[in-house]
Amino acid sequence: MCGIVGIVGNVPVAPLLVDALKRLEYRGYDSAGVATLETGGVLARRRAEGKLRNLEAKLAASPLGGLIGIGHTRWATHGAPTEANAHPHATDKVAVVHNGIIENFHQLKDELKAKGRVFASDTDTEVIAHLVTVELERGLSPVDAVGGVLKRLTGAFALAFLFPGHDNLLIGARRGSPLAVGHGQGEMYLGSDAIALAPFTDQVTYLEEGDWVVVTRQGATIRDENDTVVQRPMVVSAATAFMVDRGNYRHFMAKEIHEQPDVMGRTLGQYLDFGTGRTRLPALPFDWARLDGITMSACGTAFYAGLVAKYWFERFARLPVDIDIASEFRYRETPMKRGGLALFISQSGETADTLASLRYCRAQGQHIAAVVNVTTSTIARESDVVFPTLAGPEIGVASTKAFTCQLATLCALAVAAGRARGVLSDADEAKLVQALAEVPRLAAQALRLEVQIERLARRISKSQDVLYLGRGTSYPLALEGALKLKEISYIHAEGYAAGELKHGPIALIDEKMPVVVIAPHDRIFEKTVSNMQEVAARGGRIILMTDPKGAAEATISAVETIVLPEMPATVTPMIYAIPIQLLAYHAAVLMGTDVDQPRNLAKSVTVE
Ligand code: F6R
Repeated sequence: MCGIVGIVGNVPVAPLLVDALKRLEYRGYDSAGVATLETGGVLARRRAEGKLRNLEAKLAASPLGGLIGIGHTRWATHGAPTEANAHPHATDKVAVVHNGIIENFHQLKDELKAKGRVFASDTDTEVIAHLVTVELERGLSPVDAVGGVLKRLTGAFALAFLFPGHDNLLIGARRGSPLAVGHGQGEMYLGSDAIALAPFTDQVTYLEEGDWVVVTRQGATIRDENDTVVQRPMVVSAATAFMVDRGNYRHFMAKEIHEQPDVMGRTLGQYLDFGTGRTRLPALPFDWARLDGITMSACGTAFYAGLVAKYWFERFARLPVDIDIASEFRYRETPMKRGGLALFISQSGETADTLASLRYCRAQGQHIAAVVNVTTSTIARESDVVFPTLAGPEIGVASTKAFTCQLATLCALAVAAGRARGVLSDADEAKLVQALAEVPRLAAQALRLEVQIERLARRISKSQDVLYLGRGTSYPLALEGALKLKEISYIHAEGYAAGELKHGPIALIDEKMPVVVIAPHDRIFEKTVSNMQEVAARGGRIILMTDPKGAAEATISAVETIVLPEMPATVTPMIYAIPIQLLAYHAAVLMGTDVDQPRNLAKSVTVE
């Protein structure tokens, strides 16, 4: 969601705050702002609606001095994305930036209004500034004022405060949304994640749930939710400035699509021993052989990765998988037998609904496992066992390499489970490991189809609606293809199980409707061909993604075929994801949308 940064330094901080916000812009980009303390500890602010470049232009026209400041890039929750609603929100005594939602803000606002406080925005954040101001006016110190106010707030949030007249003091707080403290030489930092702090320091302390922190140039004092001073470990962050660079690519999304052969190889290498043909997992707090099933929960693209994995776990390990969208699961009150396995999938590890589902399962006595990309995240920290994806920082808002690395990890897990349960023999395991070893090579081959896909994207970019079809593990890919196209090109798209077509969506087919069919030549290929015949008979324009065998057998007119290399059926989701991503990417580029920062979206969804 929103991105937060704070710096107490020794050089003018406004340009540094903007630099950090650039790295956080993927979290939200409706508006942005910075506040610093200029000469004499006087608070000065610049805020701008829209992308960060608007704020930069304002700062260029009217620069801010000061060696201490806070900054924010916003994904609107309460109040339209206007300058008045942009953070920092301030009174004459405090400025605050906020990520998350204050659930009791109506009640607090009414109370403050009754005391005569006047509000300048529609945000929930501004109540925090006023609450702190009331306490400061009562004569409390900034630390005591914030300590008291935090106890009055309900909801999930991360906060950073700056106080006029106190040029060596920042206060940060974390409840539900991440916040990291960066340690420099005589300088200290606050940031929503280590990526924001990467240009300044790699020495990072992650606040834990309920923690709040007083930061000065000399260091940080962390208190827990009971205000007891606590020590939290300092770790060396792996998020180097280099890793969040776009390189020679026009968009982060393009770079991240092209990184997939490497990052999938790295991820698979972590879970597979290609030499012996065995899987290798970290020590597990549960026994695969004793499980009756797995409960999975995730959101968006991560949910589709889980949906693919359901096919693998059920087939390779004969383990039934109950999978649901986290925002539904968390309120479904699913009865669960104690001692079961609950598996959560998340790139950011901070998605509010996924985290709430995790906590529900924890309360139901489940073993908690997570497939996450950000291993310092809340979901990672609250899990009994973490299976990291080694995708590296994913900056493009539309998930690409994180998805395929989730698939790689989940496939390795399903094979390990199958072997542990005696469903797969040593020879079966070795064969599957061998198939997975081919993934980086096959992914590199799939990327070579880009020129052809770019040409097809022209047709897609002129369409109003697009249908994606697939069967088996290609069905979740159809859902993912439709999601990718919708979110970055704004073209309406639907994904369907190919066999479901005739139960309704076939009514949509006409000569204007492109239908993308994902159909490797597998054991159900024939069935998908029948569904394609049904589309062709109604004038639908088919784009078929298949392999040489599939292309030879799918003798249907009006088909444009993207021919992927032959590959073992198990690895098709990881490879067919690539042309699907490229199709959406090029359609969006042709339409001129903001590919890395599509409208209304944010990378890490820490609100419900
Ligand atoms: C789509 C996309 C989202 C995320 C979803 C879950 O391209 O990126 O659908 O997959 O918001 O996010 P994580 O994986 O961070 O929990």
